[in-house]
Amino acid sequence: MDNRAIGIFDSGLGGLTTVKELRKLLPNEHLIYFGDTGRMPYGTRGRELVRKYAAQDIHFLQQFDVKMIIAACGTVSATITPEMIKSIGVPFSGVVLPAAQAACAASTGGRIGVVGTPATVRSGAYGRAIRNISADMRVFGSACPLLVPLVENGFIQPDNPVTRMVAERYLKPIIEEQVDTLILGCTHFPIIYDIFNQLLNYKVTLIDPGKQVARWAQSFLASEDQLAEGAGKCEFYVTDSIDNFSDIAGIFLGSDLTGQVTQIDIDAVEI
Ligand code: DGL
Repeated sequence: MDNRAIGIFDSGLGGLTTVKELRKLLPNEHLIYFGDTGRMPYGTRGRELVRKYAAQDIHFLQQFDVKMIIAACGTVSATITPEMIKSIGVPFSGVVLPAAQAACAASTGGRIGVVGTPATVRSGAYGRAIRNISADMRVFGSACPLLVPLVENGFIQPDNPVTRMVAERYLKPIIEEQVDTLILGCTHFPIIYDIFNQLLNYKVTLIDPGKQVARWAQSFLASEDQLAEGAGKCEFYVTDSIDNFSDIAGIFLGSDLTGQVTQIDIDAVEI
């Protein structure tokens, strides 16, 4: 038993897709979520800047003596280096490997699509992870930069015409490649899961990376005898104003976050 918290981070709201799954699978855990809302998006930035931000985010979470850290951000997961991971000092996972494993297991025709931020698609991290698992898989990427700000601004309803139109445009090359499985390679995208599903006529298996990394966390903690006992709780930290985050996060998580969100100054965190 280990009642220390699990630290989870993303540039903004996207990592909440992981929090939602963790709350379902591990209701006894203490979750500390950090969303770098003041510096998002990460996915349109260069590799070095994303790494610098990720190092600061990880240091912020380490202050809480967490037992595990999850990068609930496709961009960070695709960009972080093995050296950075080694220096974290507690078990760590990004979303790329768990999502790649799930996609390979789900694929019926060996054609996997990946939608993500420009940084994630450009990194080729999903292609490498998938081909390491199964060399014959074909992987097709489509960068979707406009979807992140749409989600952050609450354009998340399944019938939202703007988000549907933008998503349709980004899915076009993926549909042309006739993929059988699609990784929602940016953790913001499962928030608009229904839009993807509708546009793909419910014919493509969608992989939610937040769900997959939550499953990894559950099995890892169980195997290490590190599951928490007692009542779980969540704390949220952000770097921009609390109001916007609380409103949309509350809708997505289905609970009122009043009093649970704190704004912090990430520049004050030494690395
Ligand atoms: N949710 C993030 C990801 O999975 C980051 C989006 C962004 O900041 O651009 O890539």
